[in-house]
Amino acid sequence: MFDLSLEVLRVVEDSAIASARTMGMGDAKTADHAAVESMRQCLDTIAIDGTIVIGEGERDEAPMLFIGEKVGASKDQPGALSVDIAVDPLEGTNLCATGAGGAITVLAASERGGLLHAPDCYMEKIVVGPAAKGAVDLEAPVKHNLKAIARRLQRGVDDLVVVVLDRPRHQQLMADIREAGARIRLIGDGDLSAGIAAAVSGTGVHAVMGSGGAPEGVLTAAALRCLNGEIQGRLVVKDDAQKERMQAMGIRDTAKIYTTGELAPGRSIVFAACGVTDGNLLKGVRFFGDGTRTQSIVMTHTPARVRFIDTVHLENKPDVKVRFR
Ligand code: FBP
Repeated sequence: MFDLSLEVLRVVEDSAIASARTMGMGDAKTADHAAVESMRQCLDTIAIDGTIVIGEGERDEAPMLFIGEKVGASKDQPGALSVDIAVDPLEGTNLCATGAGGAITVLAASERGGLLHAPDCYMEKIVVGPAAKGAVDLEAPVKHNLKAIARRLQRGVDDLVVVVLDRPRHQQLMADIREAGARIRLIGDGDLSAGIAAAVSGTGVHAVMGSGGAPEGVLTAAALRCLNGEIQGRLVVKDDAQKERMQAMGIRDTAKIYTTGELAPGRSIVFAACGVTDGNLLKGVRFFGDGTRTQSIVMTHTPARVRFIDTVHLENKPDVKVRFR
C-alpha cells in the first residue's frame, strides 16, 4: 500500500489555481492548457514512476499528459513506486471559461493495472451513492431504477434529483425521468463532479444518468470505490471504425456493462479533486490578495479515508493575514 494523498493534493490544487486565473476569459483552450501544464509540472516533482493511462488523448494529439506518457521524479528508475495515473486536468473547461459553477481538477492513481484504459468515446452511465448500491441496472427502464433508488433512500420518486448533461441526445432520458416523477438538474458540463456528489449525502444529488465521456467514467469509478458508491457504464460505439479501434485496444465485447470494480479495480486507489469554480461539493478557488484559498477532496480506498481539505496558500510576505473561513 502507498499513500500519495498529500502529493496528489498538491497536483490538483496547483492546477486549480492555474486554471482559475483564466476563469471567465471565454477561452476554454487557455483554461485547459493552464491546468495541463501545471499538473504536468507538479507531477514531475513526485517520487513516482508514473504512467498516464487516462489523459489528454494520444501522443500525436496532446503535447502533455498524453496516454502512455511517463511522469514523476523517479520515472523509469529501478525500484521506484510504479503507479498508473488517470487525469482530467480541468473537468468543465467551458464552465471555467464562462465562470460557471462546477469546474474541478482531477487526478486518480493506483498500482499498475488498477484503472481501466478506457477509449476516448462516450459511455452510457448510471451513478448512485452507497444507499442505492446494488439496486440499479443500466439495462432496466428508467422508471424501474428511480423506484429502486427511492425505496433505498426511503423517499418518494418525486423527492429525487437526477443530474443529466443538457444535451439533445438526452431528450428521451429526460422525458422518462419526468414521466417517472423525479426532478432533473440539467448541467452544462461536468458529469464527473456530479457523480462524486451523488455518492456524498447532503449534496442534493441522488443519481446521475445519461452518456458522458468514458474517461470521466473511469475517474468517477475511482472516486466511487473510495465512497462506496456505484457506477455502471457501457461504451457507446459511434461507428464501425471506432468499434475496430476498440477491438484493437483489446476490448472484445463492446456492449459490455462495466461495474465500478471493473472500471477501477485497483487496491491502492487515491483520488483527488480541487474546486476551480463553486460547485455542489467543492468551493472554487478564491484569490484574496494575501494568498489563495482552495477546497479539495482527497480519498484513499485502503485505508478508507475521505478528506475535505481547505488550504490557504499564502504569499511569502511578513504581514500576510489568514481568515478563519
Ligand atoms: P471537458 O471538461 O473536457 O470539456 O468535459 C466536460 C464534459 O461535460 C464531461 O463532464 C462529460 O463527460 C463530457 O464533457 C460530455 O461530453 P459532450 O460535451 O461531448 O457531451
